[in-house]
Amino acid sequence: MISHCLGVNNAGHLEISGCDTLCLAEQYGTPLYVMSEDEIRETCRRYVASFERNYGGRGKPIYASKAFSCKEIYRIVLSEGLDVEVVSGGELYTALQAGVPGRQIHFQGNNKSIGELTMALENGVGDIVVDNLSELERLESLAAERGVTAPISFRIKPGIDAHTHEFIRTGQVDSKFGLDLASGEAMDALRRASELEHVVVKGLHCHIGSQILEKAPFVHAAEVMLQFFAQVREELGMTFEHLNLGGGFGIHYTERDDAIPYEEYMEDVSAMVHAKCRELGLDLPYIFIEPGRSIVGEAGITLYTVGNIKHIPGVRDYVAIDGGMFDNPRYALYQSAYTCILANKAGEPADYTATIAGKCCESGDLIQEHTLIQKPEEGDILAVLSTGAYNYSMASNYNRNLKPAVVMVSHGKSRIVVKGETYEDLVRNDV
Ligand code: LLP
Repeated sequence: MISHCLGVNNAGHLEISGCDTLCLAEQYGTPLYVMSEDEIRETCRRYVASFERNYGGRGKPIYASKAFSCKEIYRIVLSEGLDVEVVSGGELYTALQAGVPGRQIHFQGNNKSIGELTMALENGVGDIVVDNLSELERLESLAAERGVTAPISFRIKPGIDAHTHEFIRTGQVDSKFGLDLASGEAMDALRRASELEHVVVKGLHCHIGSQILEKAPFVHAAEVMLQFFAQVREELGMTFEHLNLGGGFGIHYTERDDAIPYEEYMEDVSAMVHAKCRELGLDLPYIFIEPGRSIVGEAGITLYTVGNIKHIPGVRDYVAIDGGMFDNPRYALYQSAYTCILANKAGEPADYTATIAGKCCESGDLIQEHTLIQKPEEGDILAVLSTGAYNYSMASNYNRNLKPAVVMVSHGKSRIVVKGETYEDLVRNDV
């Protein structure tokens, strides 16, 4: 199985963290998001341990909560010693409601509103990651109005294209995020910040991409960023406490994904940071990394009930489910690969080629095309694996479908952490 928390029990059913998925489907109904708390905690511990082992504990992971945000996930990652990253007033509000202290929150975003920045200042957010010069000015005046000093870092574009195999350095990166290094934009922002009274620059941040299955781009990003640390010290006499290398560590969606064990990233990054700091005469910075997908992705599965099966001779077989792009838009958006299993036939061979179709009025509402599953029948329970990240968080009410519940499982026990929506929820804001 592609995830540690999954297995097949004696009844031949798929199980997750000791819970039979058929029992979960029966108890809570489908569609249903199921997440393994054991797997999430284990992954958090592996990341934390990698800082202990390779970097003397002078750093920590930040959970990028855009991958999956609800009160319980903030409580879980907080209890494992992680900080959290938020990108909107909504995520910030949820984190605060869950009891995350403001000082452990890192606030990202390329176009934060005045309302969001105000909320960050009023709640003592410990790290506002400034994306651009106009945000810097806006923040300065909002902090001045309140007579406070905002702890900030800057989001830098290091000019690394991590999505190609041969990553390349580009002077000018086409991205809506962050400040450009090569053109001098990043240096200008730091110069301006040094003149301002109500912001204090604590560090620099970069994020090179997502679902990256190699180490080299992260190591290269650390190298480029530390080179910039030295340049800033030289030109502005400014030093930084921390370096945030962002997230993007790839996971298994199918057996074909060659995901790197998460602890190995810090081994190589740490070696580069030590070497570069020695070479440039820099103090070792505190290091943050910002994983989202890899904390929750493989820990989650979605359970559906199989409905009609349409055999179109010479074309394909559509297997319809009671969910679709409203609970998982990732195939429609990115043609993402997934592993699908009939949970009640998990021990049987997967030799039936199916296209898994959702129930939305849209031909592109598919979860996977031409994928191998066990021979399906109406009423089977279909499990889609590795749906813990960017599924619930990207769900919608398209066609007025209800967002499913999220159930957390641990050591054979299950509990609801997000209730499923009801029809009353749908009309709550209608006037
Ligand atoms: N930090 C920053 C600043 C980010 O923009 C992101 C992701 C992360 C951390 C976390 O990256 P991760 O470890 O999760 O790869 N909706 C897309 C993914 C968008 C990722 C956006 N930024 C998907 O479903 O694949």
